[in-house]
Amino acid sequence: MNENLQSVFLSEEQIKEKVKEAAAWLDERFKDKNPLAVSVLKGSVMFFCDLVRAMETPVQIDFMTISSYGKSTQSSGMPKIVMDLAASVEGRDVILVEDIVDSGNTLYKLRELLVGRGAKSFTVVTLLDKPSRRKVDIKAGFSCFEVDDEFIVGYGLDYDQQFRNLPYIAVLKREVYEK
Ligand code: PRP
Repeated sequence: MNENLQSVFLSEEQIKEKVKEAAAWLDERFKDKNPLAVSVLKGSVMFFCDLVRAMETPVQIDFMTISSYGKSTQSSGMPKIVMDLAASVEGRDVILVEDIVDSGNTLYKLRELLVGRGAKSFTVVTLLDKPSRRKVDIKAGFSCFEVDDEFIVGYGLDYDQQFRNLPYIAVLKREVYEK
């Protein structure tokens, strides 16, 4: 394992099992509804690809790049749209896929934006959830794993744009982000 990593937090097998559960949860709700699955880049990309491939329901996919952290480990509270969706969400059942809900600011802003654009429904699936850090009142419909306040990386999640391509999720050593 990389010297900056402390331990494995979630193995590939643990992630795979939960992805199946999340996909089944979505299949139950969106069968015959032609939903639009939206990946919030960059963090959710690995989870998103595995999730939509585990679903039986035909889905359309689209992407949006939002950035709120930059190099910091603290949310700026002002998420910025770096790249918008190509598709219109008007009248669509939107499934928003996140890697992590932390302060909740990103999700709060996205809900406001997409519901404001006329989405028929707005459902959130997140891989990770840090409820203890929430600053605004918002909750995912399905969250795969709850996390305490460790800094975790891998399977899409980064520290300073590194570690996103790890196939598992690991805890980053404290001295790496506190130096
Ligand atoms: C992360 C993550 C979420 C958001 C969650 O994105 O992917 O979108 O922060 O934090 P919040 O609940 O406090 O708003 P980040 O800005 O790090 O960009 P990235 O997805 O490109 O890593």
